[in-house]
Formats: sequence, C-alpha cells, structure tokens
Amino acid sequence: MASTIVLISGGNRGIGLEIVRALLESNTTSDGTPYHVYLGSRDLQRGKDVAAKLPVAHGNTVTAIQLDITSPQSVNNAVTTVEAESGRLDVLINNAGVNYENIADEAIKMSTLYDINVIGPSRVTDAFKPVLLTQPAERKKEKRIIHVTSSMGSIGSRLDPKFEYYHEKYTPYRCTKAALGMLTACHAYDFKDDGVKIHAFDPGWVATEFGGGDPEVNRKLGAIDPRVPGLACRDVVEGKRDNEANLIVSINGDTFPW
Ligand SMILES: NC(=O)c1ccc[n+]([C@@H]2O[C@H](COP(=O)([O-])OP(=O)(O)OC[C@H]3O[C@@H](n4cnc5c(N)ncnc54)[C@H](OP(=O)(O)O)[C@@H]3O)[C@@H](O)[C@H]2O)c1
Repeated sequence: MASTIVLISGGNRGIGLEIVRALLESNTTSDGTPYHVYLGSRDLQRGKDVAAKLPVAHGNTVTAIQLDITSPQSVNNAVTTVEAESGRLDVLINNAGVNYENIADEAIKMSTLYDINVIGPSRVTDAFKPVLLTQPAERKKEKRIIHVTSSMGSIGSRLDPKFEYYHEKYTPYRCTKAALGMLTACHAYDFKDDGVKIHAFDPGWVATEFGGGDPEVNRKLGAIDPRVPGLACRDVVEGKRDNEANLIVSINGDTFPW
C-alpha cells in the first residue's frame, strides 16, 4: 500500500520542523500506511542537513526539497519532483510564514508580508492542485490542505479587549493572516467536490525564531514548546479534527473565530 505523501513549506526549522518530526514518529496515519514527508526548505542543503538528523520510525521516510514559496520556478520544480518521485501528493501543509520587524515603511512591510504569507500559500496550492487530486490506483487516499495561520489574524477577536493579544499592533501581519483565512474559505469552496479537507491551524504563541525573536526569551515569557503545535497539527493530518474542517483549529482542541 502506498505511503501517505506529505509536503510542508518551511520544514527546516521552528513549527514546521516539529510537524515533520511528529509525523516521522507516528504509526497512526489515517489509513495505516507510513508517511513520506517532503521537508520544504528555501536552502536545500540546510533542509538536507536537518532531514538527515531526524529520527524516523514505523517505516516513515523524509526527503528535503528546495521550496521558496515566493518563486514560481522553485514551486514548479518542487511539483515536478513530487510528481516524478511519488506520482501524487496527499497532504499539503502551507506552514512557511514571516513577520519582519525590521521594515520601517508600513506599506512595504504589508506588501512583503503579503507576498510570503498570502500569495505564497495561494501559489503553492494552485501549483500542487493536479498532484493533490491524483489518487493511487490501489486505494483512495484522504486528501488535505492545512494552512498554518495565527489568532492575530482573527478579525472577530481584533476588537475584543479580552483577547490576549488585544494590545499587540502588528497590523500588516494581522492583515496577511486574515487574508489567509479568506484563502482557506475559498479553498474549502474550490475543493468541496474533490473531497479535499481544508483546515486553518493556529499553533498558539510558540518559542521559535519567528519575527527575529529569541526562542529562549519568549519561552520565559510564556511561549510554548514547538513540539506542542507539531503534535496538534499531526492530529489534523490524521483526521482527528475532521469535524472542524473549514475552520481555524487551535492547539487546545477548540476552534478560533475568523
Ligand atoms: N511562532 C509563533 O508564535 C507563531 C504564532 C502563530 C502563527 N505562527 C505561524 O507559524 C508558521 C511557522 O512559524 P515559525 O514560528 O515556525 O517561524 P520560523 O521559526 O521563523 O520559521 C519560518 C519558516 O518559514 C520559512 N520561510 C520563510 N520565508 C519563506 C519562503 N519565501 N519560502 C519558503 N519558506 C520560507 C523559513 O525558512 P528559512 O529558514 O529559510 O528562513 C522557516 O523554515 C508561520 O506561518 C507563522 O506565521 C507562528
């Protein structure tokens, strides 16, 4: 029986890496087959180095793949590689995302972040659509798209003084993740007749290098270990959150308002 083929963008560090790690430890794919994970990395050598050190179990496998989500050429090359090696894709995880603090001009920051956080996942999803819709001859596979978003993009929470990030500004970042919410809803519509399950996934506040942050400093301030969203995202991949498809699922087992 064919493996479950997963591709993740930004798999070389942070939350993406922990999602990969969680999948490679698993023996609980929704159809009992091992995973083959394509670990997307802008820097291929860095991706290969990271992949080589990951423990694998239960017949799961991993290979690094060069993937810059702002580059149509890079994305198309990744599609060609996945198609040639695996014949199809079963789970696409659009995880790569940024929040650059060092861009002073708000309009330039907005445009830069949109390019990566919104146009990137849109480009990647469109390019992988044909391989995502390809089924193996032996048995139909569950097909999924997961967009890694943020509660900071919740329009419903922005004006709620009780929301824990009410006083954080981050307007361009918030706008990109709000737009990613609409992309999620549009993908839910676009793929509804193809049986592809769509989720937006909010990892919580996580101790990574995101936004140039220091993971250890943020950890002391309350950021969680990236292993937590890694395992929670695996639950989405393994069908444990299927009753919350077309929603933002949080790590706490509930959903978040758009
Ligand atoms: N950390 C948090 O508290 C938090 C909270 C809510 C949501 N999120 C979301 O979670 C996701 C992952 O964040 P993280 O905390 O793991 O951040 P991170 O540690 O900074 O990792 C970001 C990843 O995205 C990759 N990336 C950046 N630009 C890319 C591009 N153009 N093409 C392909 N990959 C690119 C990076 O690759 P390089 O190594 O090459 O730079 C890296 O692998 C993001 O979508 C973020 O918005 C994070």
